Order: sequence, then C-alpha cells, then structure tokens
Amino acid sequence: MEPVSTKPTPSTPALFESAPAAVPANGPTGRPRTEFPTPDVLASHGPARIITLCNQKGGVGKTTTTINLGAAFAEYGRRVLAIDFDPQGALTAGLGVQSHDQSTIYDLMIGAVRDAHDVIVPTRVEGLDVMPANIDLSAAEVHLVNEVAREQILARILRQVSAEYDVILIDCQPSLGLLTVNALTAAHGVLIPLECEFFALRGVALLVETIEKVRDRLNPAIELDGILPTMFDSRTLHSREVLERVVEAFGDEVLETVIGRTVKFPDASVAGTPITKFAPEHPAAQAYRQLARELIARGAAA
Ligand SMILES: Nc1ncnc2c1ncn2[C@@H]1O[C@H](COP(=O)(O)OP(=O)(O)OP(=O)(O)O)[C@@H](O)[C@H]1O
Ligand SMILES: [Mg+2]
Repeated sequence: MEPVSTKPTPSTPALFESAPAAVPANGPTGRPRTEFPTPDVLASHGPARIITLCNQKGGVGKTTTTINLGAAFAEYGRRVLAIDFDPQGALTAGLGVQSHDQSTIYDLMIGAVRDAHDVIVPTRVEGLDVMPANIDLSAAEVHLVNEVAREQILARILRQVSAEYDVILIDCQPSLGLLTVNALTAAHGVLIPLECEFFALRGVALLVETIEKVRDRLNPAIELDGILPTMFDSRTLHSREVLERVVEAFGDEVLETVIGRTVKFPDASVAGTPITKFAPEHPAAQAYRQLARELIARGAAA
C-alpha cells in the first residue's frame, strides 16, 4: 500500500497571488457587471410609467418578460398593472387568470364596458394586477378601423387607472398592426426583448422605423428603454456571437441584464405563476429582479 503523502500542496503560482482579489468579471454583454441597488420603498404610488414590450417576431419572450418583470417590480413594492394586448391571451393564462367569464380589454376598446376598473383582475402576486384578453381581441383591428383617433384608444383607457399604479406593462402581439401602434402611442417607453438566435436582428430595423413613425406622428415623448437579450445560452458559441452582434449594433441600448435559456419558464407558465414565485432562487428569477433594478436605475420606472 502506498504511504499517504504528507507533502504540502504546491503553493499558488505567483501570477495568481499578485492578481487583485476582486476583478469585476464582465457580464455576458462584455461590459463590467454592475450591482444595481435595491430600490427604495415608495412613499406613495403613481402616476404610472407605461412600458410597452414589443417585437413583431414571435416567441422572443415578450409575455414571459411582462409576467416576470411585473412580478419582480411588485416584489420591490411597486404597484403593477400588466395589460394583455394579444388575442392569444398568453399573459392572462400565464398569470393564472381565466378570461372567458370575465370582461376583457376588448370590451373597453369597443366601448361595451366604460370603466377600466371593471376589467382589472388581481393575480396571485400581491401588487400585480392584470387586464386580461382573449380571442375576442382579434376582431379589434377590423372593428376600430373607422374609429376617430383609433390609435389613441388604449392611451385613453389607461388614463383612467394610471394614477393608481407605478408601472404599467403592455404585452404586445407579434405584429406591427393597429393594436401595437395603440400600445406604442400609450407608452412612455419601449422594451424590446430579442432572442439570442441567428435571425434576431432581422426585423429590428422595421420595428425601430415603426417606433420612429409613432414618435413623429402620435407620441413625441416615447423613449427606447432598452433591448433585452433573452434565451441566452452561455454554453453555445452561437448565443455568444449573436449577443456580440447585438451589442455592436445597438451599443448602450442593450441592457446589461441578459435572460438565460431555461426550461423553468415553460414549467412556470403551465403552473400559471411567475418564475419569481415558482422557483424564487433560480438564476432566471434573479435575472428578472436584476432587470427590474436596472430599469429603475436607468429611470425607466419609479
Ligand atoms: N429564457 C427562456 N428560456 C427558455 N424558454 C423561454 C424563455 N423565455 C420564454 N421562453 C418560452 O418560449 C416560449 C415563447 O415565449 P413568450 O411567450 O414569452 O414569447 P412571446 O414573444 O410573448 O411570443 P408571442 O410573440 O407568440 O407572443 C414560451 O413557451 C416560453 O415559456
Ligand atoms: Mg406573447
């Protein structure tokens, strides 16, 4: 039997000894990581800053971001209203709300219900309410085409409730039609989720052009709050290359927070719960909390 070695372990090479103890590691966007501070408790609520989540490309994380960013803001004591502005109703379902036996945003849009408060439903997350939608909303674009000021209908609806919330998040459908133009017209800022995959940048030029048109014609104050890389997989060179190109193209508009790819999101959707509640310690839950802090630090929310 080999005798157990009593030799001391070799000392750390000098190179490492002399390295500073806390070199800030760069984040996935290549910039040094920032610790965004925990936001102050708000002494009073409202008026809301309205943020539209928009990208006409499907499946990039608009709804997932609306749910989880909304829940993260609520954890920080913000009063949050999430607007489901997609006839697919994924936001409504993802927050565990039934939309068939309940008034929806469509009823407000066509004037069948007048008071926006009658359409708002609380969710399981304290401080997070939702204005639900269902397939009825798909008729809105046709129904509203001859309406006076048809681009401003949502803005008018939100004015009724804006004073009671700190943040209103609008989850758009994957199109640049009249509903999305309504959402952009109602908003103070736009957040663009961008999936870290090869064709991610296709279509962003068209989206930016649409935002510019809305700024020129309907909503001069609208700001780009940031581009949020989603479904990032740090293990693949592909994901890292796409993110590099996004940063090259958009510079500081790209948020420092990057949302990683994980099956926890589909799992949480099935449970009708934000990931911040479904798996509170999961890195993806932490990422959405960081996103809330980053947006507050950038002045995009109170
Ligand atoms: N970071 C992520 N990692 C893994 N899966 C994700 C992630 N974010 C979202 N998903 C999943 O990808 C799918 C599309 O996401 P989501 O519905 O949020 O996109 P969307 O942009 O709202 O889509 P649509 O354009 O159809 O409204 C969903 O099944 C969701 O659970
Ligand atoms: Mg969606």
